[in-house]
Amino acid sequence: MTRRKLVVGNWKMHGSRSANAPLLSGILESRPYTCDVAVCPPFPYLSEAAVALASSGLRWGGQDCSVHEQGAYTGEVSARMLAEFGCRYVIVGHSERRALHAESDGLVAEKAKAALAHGVTPIVCVGETLAERESGQTESVVKRQLSAVIHALAHCAGEMVVAYEPVWAIGTGKTATPEQAQEVHAVLRAQLRAATPRADAMTLLYGGSVKPENAKSLFAQADIDGALVGGAALKADDFVAICRAAG
Ligand code: PGA
Repeated sequence: MTRRKLVVGNWKMHGSRSANAPLLSGILESRPYTCDVAVCPPFPYLSEAAVALASSGLRWGGQDCSVHEQGAYTGEVSARMLAEFGCRYVIVGHSERRALHAESDGLVAEKAKAALAHGVTPIVCVGETLAERESGQTESVVKRQLSAVIHALAHCAGEMVVAYEPVWAIGTGKTATPEQAQEVHAVLRAQLRAATPRADAMTLLYGGSVKPENAKSLFAQADIDGALVGGAALKADDFVAICRAAG
């Protein structure tokens, strides 16, 4: 099956009003793209991104959301609020949040559910640490992480986007080889097939030091449908080159 590719820029806690404007216009000016393209800026910049990208065909999203609808949850942002700003996506379960904010598989699954309840597509991140890979646990770790989300989303599981991001490859310059990434993507696709009839239509992204130089060989793999890009998403030229590689 040919699936349309998706490239998502995860800006993490980077950016400023003065830096974002040329980045967004650089991405806009290089249209059209033959893949779907989205950016996920920090929350304060979402409204600016929404204005800049309105009617452009480009998409935007948040980097996290609360499991709650509203209430006394200082510092949290709900999926409903993201939907109000036109977010098409929200990243949930990024390894930085799992590690630095102690997010459990169960919490990540509830976040994915909250997103879908508001029509926002969750980009669910899974991935093993270096120690887990070296001790042969890669498959069991990613399956455990995905299984929690499949269980929580039940008949809507086919609606999520999954991003395989080996923790040891994030921001380190060490990309998984295309074969290493494909191996895990195939495991995830098989797990999804057992859970939803939409599995073969679902978008499975790879993330972890994706750059213009390695994007094409990653995108050539059977089950890699695009990328979640961190560092290289902060430079318009690099991000655009990765989007071109997906087309
Ligand atoms: P990186 O980050 O491309 O800088 O490795 C990817 C991510 O964390 O989503």
